[in-house]
Amino acid sequence: MSVTLVPSLPSLPAVASAPSVALDVLGVPGEINLDYAATAPCARAAADAVTELLPWYASVHRGAGALSRRCTLAYERARQTVGDFFGARADDHVIFTRNTTDALNLLARSLPAGTTVVTFAGEHHANLLPWPRGSVRLPVPADPAGAVRALAAALTELRRDSNPALPVLVAVTGASNVTGELWPVAELARVAHRHGARIVLDAAQLAPHAPVDLHALDVDYLAVSGHKLYAPFGAGVLVGRADWLDAAPPYLVGGGATSNVGPATHDVTWATGPARHEAGTPNLLGAVALAAVCAALADADRVALHAREQALLARLRDGLAALPHVVELRTFDADAPRVGIVSFVVAGQDSATVAARLASEHRIGVRDGLFCAHPLARRLLGEAAARTGRRDLPATALRASIGLGSTAAQVDRLLAALAELA
Ligand SMILES: Cc1ncc(COP(=O)(O)O)c(C=O)c1O
Repeated sequence: MSVTLVPSLPSLPAVASAPSVALDVLGVPGEINLDYAATAPCARAAADAVTELLPWYASVHRGAGALSRRCTLAYERARQTVGDFFGARADDHVIFTRNTTDALNLLARSLPAGTTVVTFAGEHHANLLPWPRGSVRLPVPADPAGAVRALAAALTELRRDSNPALPVLVAVTGASNVTGELWPVAELARVAHRHGARIVLDAAQLAPHAPVDLHALDVDYLAVSGHKLYAPFGAGVLVGRADWLDAAPPYLVGGGATSNVGPATHDVTWATGPARHEAGTPNLLGAVALAAVCAALADADRVALHAREQALLARLRDGLAALPHVVELRTFDADAPRVGIVSFVVAGQDSATVAARLASEHRIGVRDGLFCAHPLARRLLGEAAARTGRRDLPATALRASIGLGSTAAQVDRLLAALAELA
């Protein structure tokens, strides 16, 4: 493996040392993981919590034995910890799911009849595809203020042209999985509520990088994936208002979701609360892992973590900007606030080939493709071609994403490898 230094790197910002032990992440020496936005590595806190619980591992909500009772307690404590971490209100439900996709599908199935959902075209497919026919998809705005204006205009029109008694749900991301750019969630929530609509926040990419507080942002629902938040084992969560969730048919039907089943085929009384949508034996280890990371992050100095990540991100973006064949994708201005995610293309080179060479020749893992946000990624590729006047940009992109375990040396290795490949 050969690594050359990038000759024209600007003076790069210093990066503070790595975070505390509980927020250490696991990894394999020599393998450079710059693909946190797809799945982040496992935090030591999650691994430790799971290891500690494993000898006790038994049924949840289904046994009288000591092991089972301890597991039930661990599961319900995890629910409390996760809810507290995300600022759940006292009467919100905290429902464990498999991931963000599952959480948003659960909400989509819980919408009252006649609900119109309003989204932006820049969303991840998980926040575009579950919504019912008749949903409104607003164009990608030029800047965050444009998003707020477009939402206000769309809701005014919707309220004027349709029955004002029918529910409206606004569905937005906190941070783009393509560009890392932050969306003005609190302002969008204010606009939604002013028009009598509710709002769900897709926090899959925001939560790993910044505190997300449902109450403070005044959003009605929040969806998150554990595996992007340093907590593998397959749990996600939907947190939010109880009324629609308690009135909806169970997301899954089966044991645990019922309070009574009579002799006739459809003689069943469904439970209310999280149990209604969590039929079947739950994913205890996923919930416990997610709660452990939430607890560790709650204790961490998030300001310092943010500063560290932003320094690394600046190093990465400055380094990419210094490479003549590399073009960054972005929706907003170059200096718009963002989390540690950067998508880019290498002019004249197929992105899948670049990603494969980074892996095989440099042991660097990045993502390539359209990032499950096809409408946005295609649009940004077109805009990048127009902005740079280049005709040799590929049809798909590369994405590098960083987080707790990332280092300046890893960023430099990517930059050096790209310089060599180009
Ligand atoms: C913004 C955003 N929302 C939703 C999802 C879906 O997450 P998951 O695959 O964990 O369900 C992703 C995944 O990349 C994402 O980036």
